[in-house]
Amino acid sequence: MADRLRVGLVFGGRSGEHEVSVVSARSVAGALDAARFEIVPMAIDRAGRWADAALAASVLSSSGDRPDRVMRFEGSLGLDSRLVERSVDVVVPILHGPFGEDGTVQGLCEMLDLPYTGCGVEASAVTMDKVLSKRIFLQAGLPTPRFEVLTAAQWEAERIRCEARCLALRLPVFVKPSRLGSSVGISKVKDVATLAAAIELALGYDDVAIVEEGIPAREIEVAVLGGDPPVASVPGEVVPGHEFYDYADKYLDDACRLLAPAPLEPAQVVEVQRLALAGFAALGCEGMARADFLLDTRDGRFLLNELNSIPGFTSISMYPRLLGLSGVSYPELLDRLIALALARHVRRRRFAEAALKPLFERAR
Ligand SMILES: Nc1ncnc2c1ncn2[C@@H]1O[C@H](COP(=O)(O)OP(=O)(O)O)[C@@H](O)[C@H]1O
Ligand SMILES: [Mg+2]
Repeated sequence: MADRLRVGLVFGGRSGEHEVSVVSARSVAGALDAARFEIVPMAIDRAGRWADAALAASVLSSSGDRPDRVMRFEGSLGLDSRLVERSVDVVVPILHGPFGEDGTVQGLCEMLDLPYTGCGVEASAVTMDKVLSKRIFLQAGLPTPRFEVLTAAQWEAERIRCEARCLALRLPVFVKPSRLGSSVGISKVKDVATLAAAIELALGYDDVAIVEEGIPAREIEVAVLGGDPPVASVPGEVVPGHEFYDYADKYLDDACRLLAPAPLEPAQVVEVQRLALAGFAALGCEGMARADFLLDTRDGRFLLNELNSIPGFTSISMYPRLLGLSGVSYPELLDRLIALALARHVRRRRFAEAALKPLFERAR
């Protein structure tokens, strides 16, 4: 067993999706082939502190498979020293939202010269940022709901003008912090009287808010798995149990339904898969991402809403389920993500060496 690959499984984290992350990590640990992989659990608590090795292992093994049963824990380390010592061969970040899905942990791995699964630094940061993502969608000719960007400074200086820009999109609008997730800080505004409060709520979570035209829509999701070329899964559908797919729907109650596969016509499947792959490429994603769409019920158009670089990964989550329906089992999915991580690392090392070579030659 000496040459098993040591997999640093990083989970938890300071986000609204802490518990989901723990449950996802448990599913990953359960699916990795124990004959080939040694799991090295690395846990981050809700305040961003890292647990020591023993605590991390006990959180992973004792937490149930439901987010509301996850063991609460408090870490004591600034950083898991096993990363700095590079005593793992590959890092699998299963963290959602800020400080994990947004390029920060990916940057840490780059600094430590450790391979890691999923999107690189830039794509992680861009997929986390709704304003940047949508600007790139537009530039790539990908359909997305119309939007306005409001900065905190603009809101302070010229509220009337900001409100007018939002109202020009026509109500209802969705007001969101640019960089968050889990629907936290998002409001659907149907009435001009509640617009200012919605903007202030969003600006309480980020310096930048995005305001989008509200689309009467079905919500369609496609799993994309990286490779050469990347592949798109059969689409799934989220049927929110609330006014929209809000935090409670995602994590607190069971009102929402996931349909996999989504009931769509064959031509619609082809179209949404094409857009998912185009979105993945446009944002520079690698490894994996879940592309989320709004299917406008007025004209049948697919609008790209966002890509999630670390989608929910529990065994019943949409991402692994859709790939399962497309013929990629959960263990195969993990194998593929790890293989891609190692291949990227080798490639990047070669590029780094190529860039340094002329300098070394001059120094000689
Ligand atoms: N422009 C829009 N039109 C209609 N519904 C929207 C729109 N934007 C967001 N929503 C609803 O809000 C939910 C959360 O928005 P989303 O942009 O996906 O944020 P998050 O990153 O938090 O998931 C979506 O799943 C959808 O139900
Ligand atoms: Mg979303």
